Amino acid sequence: MTDVNRIKKVRTRAQLIVCAWVFNALFPAQELRDCGKDPESSGLSVKLHDEAVLTHWKAVIKGPKGTPYEGGSFAVDIHLPDDYPFVPPKMKFETKVWHPNISSESGAICLDILKNEWSPALTVRTALISLQALMSAPEPDDPQDAVVADMYKKDKAQFEGTAKFWTETYATETSGDEQVK
Ligand code: CO
Repeated sequence: MTDVNRIKKVRTRAQLIVCAWVFNALFPAQELRDCGKDPESSGLSVKLHDEAVLTHWKAVIKGPKGTPYEGGSFAVDIHLPDDYPFVPPKMKFETKVWHPNISSESGAICLDILKNEWSPALTVRTALISLQALMSAPEPDDPQDAVVADMYKKDKAQFEGTAKFWTETYATETSGDEQVK
């Protein structure tokens, strides 16, 4: 290989690395801006978890009205994997929540679009909107937390009372910042 070719090759590679870096840096930033644009009307707010890492976000979902989660603010930890948006974002609740499709211990979420129903056309925002909808309409037949799902099916009043108590205990400003481990 001639020196000229070698220099060209190195330069091309450097350009590719810079392009990839710029794309990765801009793409989540743009999505982050869209995501948090109307916190009042959407009940969603999103920010970087830590200023230095553009792929680690923190969202806060307001508990939907007319549900046992009303009045609560629920923090969701979001990681965008390297292959995002070709693979779904990794999301879990940081605030403890009593819900059939969310683990009461780990905050893990059972939601089809965060798994096999994910499509690159979806965004973190659409996933958060689906999470809000899931909070309003649990799917106890596809549970993440079997104990909660069982209570939901067998004793709705007890479920609602417990979910409301957890909201007041863990998801309101006066409940401090106790979070799932
Ligand atoms: Co995290």
